[in-house]
Amino acid sequence: MGSNIILTGFMGCGKSSVGVRLSYRLRRTVEDTDKRIERQAQMTVSEIFERLGEEEFRRMETQCLEQLKEEQQEQIISTGGGLPLRERNRELLKELGTVIYLRVTPRTVCVRLAYDTTRPLLQGENPEEKISRLMQERAGVYESTADLIVDVDDRNYEEILDEILEKLDGIKAPDRTERLEEDNETAGN
Ligand code: S3P
Repeated sequence: MGSNIILTGFMGCGKSSVGVRLSYRLRRTVEDTDKRIERQAQMTVSEIFERLGEEEFRRMETQCLEQLKEEQQEQIISTGGGLPLRERNRELLKELGTVIYLRVTPRTVCVRLAYDTTRPLLQGENPEEKISRLMQERAGVYESTADLIVDVDDRNYEEILDEILEKLDGIKAPDRTERLEEDNETAGN
């Protein structure tokens, strides 16, 4: 398994903002799949949806993960909210590293994205209904793809970061114990 830290979750859960802050705390570089796709396509996500369609955008997401696999590890990677929906993407996420699902409720997403115009899937009539429906469809996928789940409602970035770091330490702890035991054995010989 790769050594990246990957953030997943619904639109508006804070993946990009948490990703940048985590990169400062861990002194690692940060990548954002949406931004990378926009850079490479020289179009915004909305333009890609409008001109090329959602399917093409999903294909670009897969290509983006494949590129990241070939590149430097130990990065923080923020992903687009729909990225784990494709099975191939879920496989790639697992290969890339530790997946952290930032879980948010529809209520919070509605408040945060009330005036947003950059998410093509939430434009038009009744965004609240779209958010609830998509969230229901996706919750199981986010959960089953995640190594760690962190609830983000009503919490500030410091609290979220602290929980992420604590949980990451929990994952690494057994490895460290094993290594310590090995070291002790070697020292005793
Ligand atoms: C999408 C989420 C967006 C972006 C695109 C589709 C989705 O990213 O990739 O609009 O299907 O949930 P954010 O989660 O960063 O908003």
